[in-house]
Order: sequence, then structure tokens, then C-alpha cells
Amino acid sequence: MNFLSLLLAVLGSSASLAAPTTSAQNATVDALVYALPLAPYVSFANTGSVVNASNDFVTNTFAHATTLANASFRTVVLPNTDTLYSAALLDLSAGDVVVTMPDRELGRFYVLPFYDLYGNNVCSIGTVTNSTAGKYLIQYRPSNAACDLIPDAGDEYAGTISLPTVYGQILLRIEVFNSSDVDDIVSTIQPHFTLTSLNTPSAGAPPLTSALLNDNLAVDNPSLHLLQLLSRVASFNPAEEASDAEHVAATLEAAGISASSQSYTQPPDLDLASAYTTALNLVQQVPSNPANLLPLGSSAPITWSTTLPSLSGDFHTRYDLRAYISISNAYPPTQLHASHLDPPCFYANQTYMVEFSGKPDVRGFWSLTVYDGEGFLIPNALNRYSLGDRANLTYSDGTPVYDGNGNGAGGDSKAFYMLLQSTDVEVATEWESNWLPTPADGAKFIFILRFYGPTLSLTDGTYEYPKVTAVDANPPLPISE
Ligand SMILES: *[C@@H]1O[C@H](CO)[C@@H](O)[C@H](O)[C@H]1NC(C)=O
Ligand SMILES: *[C@@H]1O[C@H](CO)[C@@H](O)[C@H](O)[C@H]1NC(C)=O
Ligand SMILES: *[C@@H]1O[C@H](CO)[C@@H](O)[C@H](O)[C@H]1NC(C)=O
Ligand SMILES: *[C@@H]1O[C@H](CO)[C@@H](O)[C@H](O)[C@H]1NC(C)=O
Ligand SMILES: *[C@@H]1O[C@H](CO)[C@@H](O)[C@H](O)[C@H]1NC(C)=O
Ligand SMILES: *[C@@H]1O[C@H](CO)[C@@H](O)[C@H](O)[C@H]1NC(C)=O
Ligand SMILES: *[C@@H]1O[C@H](CO)[C@@H](O)[C@H](O)[C@H]1NC(C)=O
Repeated sequence: MNFLSLLLAVLGSSASLAAPTTSAQNATVDALVYALPLAPYVSFANTGSVVNASNDFVTNTFAHATTLANASFRTVVLPNTDTLYSAALLDLSAGDVVVTMPDRELGRFYVLPFYDLYGNNVCSIGTVTNSTAGKYLIQYRPSNAACDLIPDAGDEYAGTISLPTVYGQILLRIEVFNSSDVDDIVSTIQPHFTLTSLNTPSAGAPPLTSALLNDNLAVDNPSLHLLQLLSRVASFNPAEEASDAEHVAATLEAAGISASSQSYTQPPDLDLASAYTTALNLVQQVPSNPANLLPLGSSAPITWSTTLPSLSGDFHTRYDLRAYISISNAYPPTQLHASHLDPPCFYANQTYMVEFSGKPDVRGFWSLTVYDGEGFLIPNALNRYSLGDRANLTYSDGTPVYDGNGNGAGGDSKAFYMLLQSTDVEVATEWESNWLPTPADGAKFIFILRFYGPTLSLTDGTYEYPKVTAVDANPPLPISE
């Protein structure tokens, strides 16, 4: 069990909490909520795509995935299966970095999001923002985070990304039209996305190394581990909102994190286990707090919702939401990410039919992906993990919904159906094109509907979200209206 799944497992349990009253106790709860996004950052940094042969981090360099995610892909939780990822660990300790974005290919969607150390999506460029091709400057500006996409006077840079933290990450996603398209992206598009370090004055922070994030930290005690890790990085990685930096610094100090010695000392009489349980419970309450959610449509047994657009991706002082999104998704979505939250998961001992009221209207693309209880893809003979506008979906009369490359106008209102059925049950021929395999042995699963470049119709109540119904295995095909 890795650290992330451990956290998720703890989140899934409902431990009772003691009633701490001291301020160190409360400050520790806040410090832990603040520190939780470090766990997925470290998992990301430790994965094979961004480490070299001696297991050290390769920073400020894109690691381009050359294949689509499948069931053996473990770099990212809840991966997309229809985009190619390119990941980079950002280290601004030795100075600014320049990212080059090539000219956009007409009709292909991509997004290049920049995250701070805690998972705030401070800036994104790409198709979604109609960004111009060229060079963008990435700099460390601890009290002045910004996303300035206006070219500078000298026209040297098409924009400037000012990160509040000295460490960060980039996760480029490029749309894939079909499986024969992958090689073309790998050979002709990915190489033109580059990162270059500049010789600007050093930030004075230590370089981002595996030792910094992994060595000499408590093992088998996730809360102590997190506080020790936070103490090492907090000074050069302050809160995104400069106006809250002082409050955060005071809270961390009260929790035992010394800014001057960059170390953690557990305050006397602190019940760390109880503080951790309280912190996890606070974070666990995020999705059930209606104030955080934008409902997208409800139809028993599920409600589709997404986090409020004002809170999506860039969380400012909402450290609870930041923690929830980063530990439940690993990467904050930069797209409309509609999830069903009640019930939180389904079991594959039951077949479900998903009724789409019509094609969702998107400027980019869309997909519905099924994951197991840990957020990983489900092995199956077809290697099919998602269905959407680039799949061979058919209407009930057998005619194609799209042309197989994502073409076909969106936004119409002819119903089509998907079948979520276990790999244990042989799928009927007439369902095969619209079948999305769920796990063997009646195991848990969840699914996520993603829209890249959503139009307003998907959030203003115009689009009728899919109805999910429990059905017998291989039910008769409903008649499309
Ligand atoms: C600690 O937090 C609890 C719960 O939020 C609150 O009721 C209590 O007043 C806080 N105590 C202190 C000393 O801040
Ligand atoms: C890995 O990266 C570290 C830090 O940049 C470097 O010192 C080391 O030589 C690299 N090892 C290999 C095998 O490339
Ligand atoms: C899954 O992806 C890995 C890495 O690209 C590849 O080696 C493996 O063959 C793929 N598995 C399947 C079932 O396609
Ligand atoms: C991007 O450009 C297209 C076509 O010119 C336009 O329809 C769209 O509104 C623009 N999007 C943004 C976010 O500016
Ligand atoms: C795959 O997509 C590319 C790029 O749009 C297109 O040129 C090609 O015809 C498609 N191939 C198939 C088999 O549909
Ligand atoms: C499926 O499995 C779940 C969890 O074990 C159980 O609660 C549920 O009753 C089962 N449903 C059916 C239809 O067997
Ligand atoms: C769609 O069908 C075509 C023709 O059979 C096939 O080449 C392609 O791989 C299919 N696409 C997907 C995503 O299954």
C-alpha cells in the first residue's frame, strides 16, 4: 500500500474523534490539512517518469508518455485514457524557467497547466485559453502569484507565470484522436514542448531532490511524516494568498514547525493521532458540504456535481478543499469533472445502464471513465477504460453516434446508452460497442465524466445529465428517441 492509498483508506474509515482544546492541538489540525497535498506531490515526484537511473529527480524537463494509460498505469490516480500526458517537476530554486509551447494544430485540444507545490492550478495555457504559441516565463514570486498571459513589451515572452512556491509541477495533456494518432503526437508534437532553465539569481532555496522529499522522515506515521516534510519546505513554499501568509506562518509555528530551523518539534501534550483523525474528517466533509458544490443534475441513485467553478483548480485560502481535491484526484482537474458523490461507489455484482439524453456540447472532447475502488483502471480483454466522443458508440438502431475521431456536432438530443457491466459477464453482441467494463468479483467501482472545453449548457442546467439505472445483465436495448 503506498502512502496515497493509505491516506485514502484512512479517509474511507469513520474514526471517532476526541475533543482537543489546546491551541497547539487546533493548530496541528490546520497544519495537517495544509500539508495533505504534499503526499500526492511526493508520489508524483517519486514515479518512474520523472526520476533518473540513480533514482534522483529530473527537474525542469518534460517526461513525455508515449502510450495511452491502461490498467498497468500507476503514475496518476484517475488517469485520462484519451490524452497523452507529459509531466515535469518544476524547481525554481536555481532561477527562472522558460516553457516553449509550439503552434497549435488546428482542431487538436491540449492544455498545459501549472501547479504550485500544494496543487493550486495557478495558470493554464493551451487551446482552452486560446494561448499564443511561444515562450512563457515561469518565475517564483512568493507574495505575488499571477498568471499574466499578455505578451511583454519586448515580445520575448508570450506571458509570465508567477508561482507562489519554489517547487511545482506541469502536467501537459494532448488530445488523442485514435490509436494510430499516438505515434504522430510522440514524434511530431511532444518534442516541441520544452523547458529551459535560465541563469537568473537563485531563490536561495534548496534544490528539489529525492533526499529533500523522502529521506530521514518518520515511517509508519503519516501525520508525523507530513509535518516533518512540511517543516522542510514551508519557508520557500508559502500560501498562495499573500494576505494569508502571516496567518499560515503563525499556525505552523503554533503547531511546532519552526521556520528558522526548518524542523518540526512535537508540542508537549499534543495528541497527534487525534489531530490527524480530525484533519481527515474535516477534509472528508468537503464533498458533502453543499456550499462547495455546483449540482449539475440529479437522478436517483446519483447526483452529478462538480466543485464550484470559483474553487476549481485554484483554491486560494480554501485549504480543506485543496486537500480534498489533491488527495482524491492526485491532480486537480483543469476540465469540468463531473462526479457522482452519492453513493460514493458502485459494486460490479450489479449491471448499470447509463442513459445520455444527447451528445454533451463541448469545444474539446468528453469521456466517461470507470475506475476501481483505488482510482485505477480496470483490466479487461478489450483494453477499454473509457467511452466518449472518440469511441465507436452507437445509437440503439446501430448507427454511429460519432465518426470515431471525435467528429459529429455535439449538443443534440438523441439518446444513447452505455452499459456498465462486469468483465465476469459476457457482454451481448448488441451492447459491445457501448459496453464499459466494470471489475471482476463484484468489486467496487466509480466513474467520472469529463468535459474538456465545456460549453455553458453543461453547467447552466440546459444539459440533462445521464441517468444511471440498475438493470439485469445484458438488458434489451432501449429505443433511442
Ligand atoms: C479548537 O477547535 C475547536 C473545533 O473547531 C473549537 O471548538 C475550539 O474552540 C478550538 N479551540 C481553540 C483553543 O482554538
Ligand atoms: C541523476 O540525477 C542526479 C541529480 O541531477 C545526478 O547527480 C545523477 O548523476 C543522475 N544519475 C544518472 C544515472 O543520470
Ligand atoms: C499497458 O501499457 C504498458 C506501458 O505502455 C505496456 O507495456 C503494456 O503492454 C500495456 N498493456 C496492455 C494490456 O495493453
Ligand atoms: C477562442 O477562440 C474561439 C474562436 O475564435 C472563440 O470562439 C472562443 O470564444 C475563444 N475562447 C476563449 C476562451 O477566448
Ligand atoms: C486518426 O486520426 C488522424 C488525425 O485526425 C486521422 O488523420 C486518421 O485518419 C485517423 N485514423 C483512423 C483510423 O481513423
Ligand atoms: C453487491 O455487493 C455489495 C457489497 O458486497 C452488497 O452490499 C450488495 O447487496 C450486492 N448486490 C447484489 C445485487 O448482489
Ligand atoms: C472504432 O472502430 C474502428 C473500425 O472498426 C477501429 O479501427 C477503431 O479502433 C475503433 N475505435 C475504438 C476507440 O475502439
